[in-house]
Amino acid sequence: APKAIIAPSILSADFAQLGADCVRTMEQGADWLHVDIMDGHFVPNITFGAPVVAKVRKHVEPPSAKYGRGTFDCHMMIAEPKKWVKEFKNAGCDLYCFHYEAAFSSAAESPEGHSDAKTSPNELIRYIHDCGLLAGIALKPSTGVDVLNDILENPDEKERPDMVLIMTVEPGFGGQKFMASELPKVEALRKKYPNLNIEVDGGLGPGTIDQAADAGANVIVAGSAVFGAKDPSEVISMLRDTVNK
Ligand code: DX5
Ligand code: ZN
Repeated sequence: APKAIIAPSILSADFAQLGADCVRTMEQGADWLHVDIMDGHFVPNITFGAPVVAKVRKHVEPPSAKYGRGTFDCHMMIAEPKKWVKEFKNAGCDLYCFHYEAAFSSAAESPEGHSDAKTSPNELIRYIHDCGLLAGIALKPSTGVDVLNDILENPDEKERPDMVLIMTVEPGFGGQKFMASELPKVEALRKKYPNLNIEVDGGLGPGTIDQAADAGANVIVAGSAVFGAKDPSEVISMLRDTVNK
């Protein structure tokens, strides 16, 4: 499997000092920052949008290369993912991870003026790449992993995702209980794709990382486990060592 990438979720940060919290988390050893965007439609919660990401980006050094340290991994829990790609690119997002379940929804007129009646995951991935971003595709617990077959086998590299995110909680809130029931999806993907970046998100921490690592996940999101820790650096290196062992 590819090497561990630890991506603390800033959903558990102090939003009143987000910039400082992000800098500190990078200093504590984070590889990426996982940025949870929620619109109150796709999930029953609202976080923040592109203007906040743009301000926070200014505090953290941009990543030097593909998947570099400081990558802004934006997890788009939004109903109209195509509509916001350019906005988030301009805000400094590096990886735009949309939900499969939202990819078919109609995108109304975007702030840039283009309109698209319908889209598909492949078209959306191509569009994200054309906008200069890495593309991720996320699955909710209720979505079977087989929906990814055609997407991952697409002969056109531009239409294949750079990362798959398997949710291990229902998206919407931090601090929920890890769902081990989702790990067979990770195992199935890892078996077929030894080099794929497979991210897990929800309930990850020292108590659950073994199962996730055994299943083959290499990109580890952790919100409450990192921000709630007495020693976040220790938790970050423990998560990394477990994946890399
Ligand atoms: C939940 C978010 C997660 C969340 C994880 O919808 O996608 O990224 O912040 O938080 P923990 O690690 O506390 O489960
Ligand atoms: Zn997330």
